[in-house]
Amino acid sequence: MYNIVTLGESVLTKNSIMVPEIDDELKHFIEGMFDTMYEGKGIGLAAVQVGNPLRLFITHSPKDMPRVFINPVIVETALEEDIYEEGCLSIPGINADVKRPYAVKIQAWNERGKPFALDADRLLARVIQHEYDHLNGILFIDRLESKKRDRLLKSYKRKSRA
Ligand code: NI
Repeated sequence: MYNIVTLGESVLTKNSIMVPEIDDELKHFIEGMFDTMYEGKGIGLAAVQVGNPLRLFITHSPKDMPRVFINPVIVETALEEDIYEEGCLSIPGINADVKRPYAVKIQAWNERGKPFALDADRLLARVIQHEYDHLNGILFIDRLESKKRDRLLKSYKRKSRA
């Protein structure tokens, strides 16, 4: 299990780098990420959130299976958007409605080094986009209108000081 990096730590704003090799060491790291995500009761986790800025994230969305996305690329997004309340293990206690495309097509490699393409919609598409943003140093609060973002940040700072 790993410690989760929280808002304010600069690594969260970094662009993650490509995973050079899918080997046993990486598989071991991914297992640790799953333990960390389940412990935090999250449904997605990006490597950068445990302080390792690699282009890699995992998901285990309700009614879906555990999934690993290595060096992922979102190749298509639906024009239609929907709104859903998001949270993030790196910003504990803060939730907000975020608008995003309701479906995406993503290509990536799994933990066995096998390339795959996946069409996802609704909640899974949402988790994928949220985690994919982490690889580019973007947090869900960055997707909000600036007034709302500032208000949430203030409330987060108050809570994290308490
Ligand atoms: Ni997050």
